[in-house]
Amino acid sequence: MPTEPFRPVAGPRGLPLLGNLPSFGRDPLAFLERLRDDFGDVVTWSLGPMRIVSLAHPEHIAELLGSDEERFEIFDAGWAFKRLVGNGVMRSQGADWRRKRSLVTPTVRPSQVRRYATTMVDCATTLADRWQEGSQIDVLREMKQLSQRVVVRTLFGNDIGDQAQALADAMDVAEREVGAELRGIGLFLPPWVRTPARRRLINAVATVDTEIDRFIHARQVSADGGDNGGDLLSRLLEARDEAGRPLTAAEVRDEAVTLWTAGHAATATALTWTWYLLSTSPDIRAQLAAELNGVLDGRPPTYDDYEQLRWTQQIVREALRLYSPAWMIPPRVARNGATLGGIPIPAGTTLWCSPWVTHRDARWFPDPTTFRPERWDTHAQQSVPPQAWFPFGGGRRGCLGARFALVEATLVVATLAQRFHVDIAPHKPALTVGLQLHPSTPLRATLRARSYRPDRPADPAPAEGAN
Ligand code: HEM
Repeated sequence: MPTEPFRPVAGPRGLPLLGNLPSFGRDPLAFLERLRDDFGDVVTWSLGPMRIVSLAHPEHIAELLGSDEERFEIFDAGWAFKRLVGNGVMRSQGADWRRKRSLVTPTVRPSQVRRYATTMVDCATTLADRWQEGSQIDVLREMKQLSQRVVVRTLFGNDIGDQAQALADAMDVAEREVGAELRGIGLFLPPWVRTPARRRLINAVATVDTEIDRFIHARQVSADGGDNGGDLLSRLLEARDEAGRPLTAAEVRDEAVTLWTAGHAATATALTWTWYLLSTSPDIRAQLAAELNGVLDGRPPTYDDYEQLRWTQQIVREALRLYSPAWMIPPRVARNGATLGGIPIPAGTTLWCSPWVTHRDARWFPDPTTFRPERWDTHAQQSVPPQAWFPFGGGRRGCLGARFALVEATLVVATLAQRFHVDIAPHKPALTVGLQLHPSTPLRATLRARSYRPDRPADPAPAEGAN
């Protein structure tokens, strides 16, 4: 039970029918921050017909995310999201969710992640081999291609050929349209309405389906030949319910698309923000170079180095604080009899919590907009309240791939930063709020090769800027 009093306060007055939708839609992050600053930690407001309570205090967030499904269920994020991920683990509830989660969990458990680490480093090394001194890259694009390759090799037991570019491009369009629908009026349109945005989504999903089918087919063929790599696709194809029935083709498709989406997009976004923040902070980057020189001595990292790469881990953690890819955790909806902080919550109320808001709150993170990985050293992090940092959500529905993502991001940063500085011109990027928190325009970087010199602790780094 939280010690912090739970007192809902009415937020800004909204328009008839639309409620606060226009202000929210214009700039969701600023709107949510204003709720906290002007009204407090527990604020009621409305988005169209939806009655929302926003939570900003870590204790309340911990209680909400830690609640069982008898009190709060996961919000149904509407037509567009359903069109993309179908009834995969992210969208399902109750017994159906438990069954799907138990099917997927073993593919990302720590012993598997240890096995995947070699592939993660391999993929990053291939990328570094392709990178050239002085060339320009679009950071998000590079990181997406990298994390897609990792997901396809680790979870789908396959390699990504050039043909997968069609899948990646279609996914980009689909994710963009789902994001746009989630922050606008589209969320409330009936399923039969066809806006231009919805048509774009339908076309993109058709391509996604064709390409995912090819992966599934390729896996079926290799499994028939006796090669079942123990990956997610093999498990899904082999899974049987209590009556001995396999998953339907649609169920396999939905899980595959869910894992593709969940497994690569947020990691790519987190890596992109990590490179951005590193290029604004020469001292932090120099300390990173020193750690890499000390721990790795010029060789590629392995899973066993993960624990030693403390500063690299802290950098990733701090990037996830400042630019959490999930700017909002999937909302929870109160069921009959739900309470929070001992207070009844009317059934149907939607509860929101945003890492953007809580992660940038000076009460938990002094000087909150400054990139300071030292917040996460063993001693300092003890002063951060539990659930003040929650880029992976929490509780029973918390991110299944958190360990996978942290290991991947750390090993990728270690592999690439050993060989290159990723210099992004100093500026404060505008943000686009969709399914993920992205830079609005491509973050372009110039690559500068690093020469490993064991006698020198770190390369000087010229870039400077602000976050
Ligand atoms: C930096 C990378 C990642 C971030 C920031 C992230 C964030 C999240 C968040 C916020 C949620 C919702 C949690 C909640 O509702 O409490 C989630 C759910 C989920 N994530 Fe991740 N994620 C990342 C990487 C991954 C990876 C690599 C995988 C798979 C390999 C993955 C698989 C999933 C799945 C399957 C769910 C749905 C869980 C459920 O509903 O039971 N995620 N993730």
